[in-house]
Amino acid sequence: MNNQVIKEFGPWLIWMALVMFISFIVWIFFFPPSIQQPVSFNHAVHEEFGCVTCHEGVETQVRATLPEFDLCMMCHDEPPVTDPAEIEMWGRAVDTEHIDWKRLRTLDDHTYFSHRRHVGMADLECATCHGDMGSQTTPPPRALKPMSMKICMDCHTKENITNDCASCHI
Ligand code: HEC
Ligand code: HEC
Ligand code: HEC
Ligand code: HEC
Ligand code: HEC
Repeated sequence: MNNQVIKEFGPWLIWMALVMFISFIVWIFFFPPSIQQPVSFNHAVHEEFGCVTCHEGVETQVRATLPEFDLCMMCHDEPPVTDPAEIEMWGRAVDTEHIDWKRLRTLDDHTYFSHRRHVGMADLECATCHGDMGSQTTPPPRALKPMSMKICMDCHTKENITNDCASCHI
């Protein structure tokens, strides 16, 4: 390329790159990458055992927590899966005593949220913030409901709870 061509088309190329970059960000925002769990866990068949069986901290701790594999082993002597890849995955979990569940939602480090406060004390339904997770038959690829600062604050305003910045941000 000679200098003349760069002068002529350079600005257009920069614009094009910018437009493509912005489209990409917008795309990621509306279609966040989907999350694939290692085993196709079925919430609906386990709902009867109660959420706290597997999410032990949900009433008493900051984190609800995801279940450790030894809990699954208490009811499943045999792999409860049929897909060959999942049977292999289950075998590996038996060896390592661990399944690497992916979290659907994580707040940034600077934001403080406590399940004990909202479930143990305020007695809110899980579905208020998580949607109807209990009746899912396959792991959802992303959180069923959005969560944002505005959603937190709108409920706090309605319930007359403090919206002091420092109560949520550490
Ligand atoms: C309190 C007992 C209990 C615990 C704990 C338990 N399960 Fe189950 N699970 C069941 C029952 C009952 C069924 C339905 C009957 C069956 O398929 O065996 C089931 C079914 C399944 C199925 C088959 C679902 C389908 O679509 O047919 C999978 C997969 C599964 N469990 C995974 C797990 C995993 C992973 C854990 C640990 C996080 C776990 N289970 C913990 C009792 C339990
Ligand atoms: C037998 C164990 C078990 C029971 C009982 C159970 N869960 Fe789960 N839960 C899991 C596992 C395993 C995952 C991770 C895989 C997935 O997302 O499906 C999970 C993931 C979740 C998540 C996603 C959290 C995140 O952001 O990463 C929510 C929300 C949830 N469960 C809510 C519930 C609710 C509400 C109930 C009761 C109605 C319930 N669970 C009962 C095992 C269980
Ligand atoms: C007021 C809103 C709200 C309610 C009610 C709520 N959650 Fe959550 N939950 C959240 C938020 C926000 C996160 C992400 C927390 C973080 O990243 O620190 C979360 C995370 C989780 C996780 C991921 C693992 C973890 O420990 O962070 C699970 C599992 C979960 N919730 C289960 C439940 C269950 C089960 C109930 C009902 C018994 C429930 N939640 C009620 C807002 C809520
Ligand atoms: C659906 C309603 C609702 C939503 C959504 C909600 N909260 Fe709350 N929050 C409450 C209630 C009710 C209390 C009071 C609990 C108690 O202490 O009895 C509370 C209390 C709190 C407190 C303690 C405030 C104090 O008194 O110091 C913090 C911190 C907090 N919430 C953070 C959050 C964050 C962060 C989110 C969003 C990720 C959130 N909340 C979403 C209803 C909600
Ligand atoms: C009820 C809880 C709550 C209160 C009160 C609150 N925030 Fe937030 N804030 C959040 C949540 C949830 C997020 C989302 C970020 C995340 O995922 O952690 C957030 C994000 C932010 C961010 C990062 C920008 C972003 O989008 O990630 C800033 C900056 C911020 N808040 C400032 C403030 C200021 C200033 C105040 C007081 C006027 C305030 N917040 C009050 C819950 C709260």
